[in-house]
Amino acid sequence: MLEPSLLDKRILLIIGGGIAAYKCLDLIRRLKERGAVVRCVLTRAGAEFVTPLSVSALSGEKVFQDLFDLTDEAEMGHIQLSRDADLVVVAPATADLIAKMATGRADDLASTVLLATDKRVLMAPAMNVRMWQHPATQRNVAQARQDGVLVVGPNEGAMACNEFGPGRMAEPAEILAAIGAALAGPAQSLAGRRIVVTSGPTHEPIDPVRYIANRSSGKQGHAIAIAARDAGAEVVLVSGPVRLDDPPGVTIVHVETAAEMLDAIKQALPADALVMAAAVADWRVARENAQKTKKQAGSGPKPLELTENPDILATIGTSSQMRPQLVVGFAAETENLIENAAAKLKKKGANWIVANDVSPASGVFGGDRNTVKIVSRDGVDALPTLSKAEVASTLVSRIADFFGDDNRHSGGQAG
Ligand code: PMT
Repeated sequence: MLEPSLLDKRILLIIGGGIAAYKCLDLIRRLKERGAVVRCVLTRAGAEFVTPLSVSALSGEKVFQDLFDLTDEAEMGHIQLSRDADLVVVAPATADLIAKMATGRADDLASTVLLATDKRVLMAPAMNVRMWQHPATQRNVAQARQDGVLVVGPNEGAMACNEFGPGRMAEPAEILAAIGAALAGPAQSLAGRRIVVTSGPTHEPIDPVRYIANRSSGKQGHAIAIAARDAGAEVVLVSGPVRLDDPPGVTIVHVETAAEMLDAIKQALPADALVMAAAVADWRVARENAQKTKKQAGSGPKPLELTENPDILATIGTSSQMRPQLVVGFAAETENLIENAAAKLKKKGANWIVANDVSPASGVFGGDRNTVKIVSRDGVDALPTLSKAEVASTLVSRIADFFGDDNRHSGGQAG
C-alpha cells in the first residue's frame, strides 16, 4: 500500500453521517502522522456518529459545523475554507452528500464548501448496499465522476445493517493511498497525445419519424474519453445520440449516422490513437423515405431493404494514410466472444479488440459495469468485472504503456 508523505499538505475532510464515520478518526490520525494539516467539516448527521471533540482533539484544529456560525464566518468564511486546502476529502460520502454534489445543492456547510471549492475532491462512498446500487445513486456517482470527483471504494463485505455487498467505506489505508495519488496529480501519461474516441449508437433513419438503432448508452465510450482527458490527452469525442452530458475538457462532435461518424473521424484525424467504442449500425435502409411511411390498408408491412454501412474501424484501420499509430476496436458479442473478437482484430486492422459479452444477462448495454477481454496478437487479457470508469482507466493506462515512456513523469500538480 502506498504510504505517502503529506508534509504540510492541507486536507479538508468532510465527515458525513454514516456508521463508517468512526474510521475517519483513524484517517485523521494517519494523515497527521504523515505531516498533513487536517481541517474537518462535520455534518449534522456526521456529529451523530463522532463527536466534534474527538475530531478536534485528533486534528488539533477547530471543527467547522454550521454554515451560519457568525464566529466561524468571521474567522474563516466557507469560501476561504473551501479554497484553503490542497484536497477536499469526503468520507463517508453518504448517498445524500453525493446527490448534493451531483446536483450542485448547497444547503449546509458541507455542500456549500463542495460547491464553492476550486480544488480536487476525493470521495469515499459508504452506504447500505441497496442505496449504493439504486439507479439514482449510480447516476449521481457517474455525474460526480464526470465533474472530476475522484472516488475510492466502496468495498464489498458484511455491513452494519446485516446485509452483504458493495457499500462499505474504503479502509483508512486505502483512502490515504488515494489521497497521496490525488495530491501527486493525475499522471499525465498521455500528455501531448491526440486521441479520437467514439461513443454511443448510430441512428440510421428509415423516414423522418423512424430509425434503426441499438442499445448503446455511450457510458463506456464517454468514460474512455474522460479517462484519456484526465491522463492529459487532447481528446475528440465523436458521439452518436446519447442521453449523457458532454464531458467538459474534450472536443465533442455529435453525429447521428455511421456515415456522419466516419466523416467526423476523418475530420478529427490525424491522431495518435483511435478508440472505437461506438456501436455503429452495420446496416442502413437502402432508400430513406422523405415522408413518414404509411400503413397500407389490406397489405402487410413493406420489407425494409437494407444496405451495408461503411465499416469505420476497417476503413481507418487498414488505411495507409489515415491510420493512427494505435487503433483500438470493441467487439460486442453474444456468443463465441474470443473467436469473433480475434477475427475482427485481423479483418479491421486493429491493434487491440476489447471484447465484451453484450447478451441481455450481462447488463452491459446501458449498465455501469463491464467485463472485458483485451484481444491482441499477443493473446487475451481478461479483466475482472469493473465499473465502466475502471475499464476506461485500465484501457488508458494500456494506451499510455503502448506509447512508452515519452509521456511518463510529465505529471502536474492537481488542483
Ligand atoms: O454504450 P454502453 O451502453 O456503455 O455499452 C458499451 C458497448 C457495449 C457499446 C461497447 O463496450 C462496445 O462493445 N462497443 C462496440 C459495439 C459494436 O459495434 O461492436 P461490433 O462487434 O458490432 O463492432 C466491432 C467494432 O467495429 C467496434 O469497434 C465498432 O465501433 C466498429 N464498427 C462496427 C460496424 C461498423 N459499420 N463500423 C465500425 O467501425
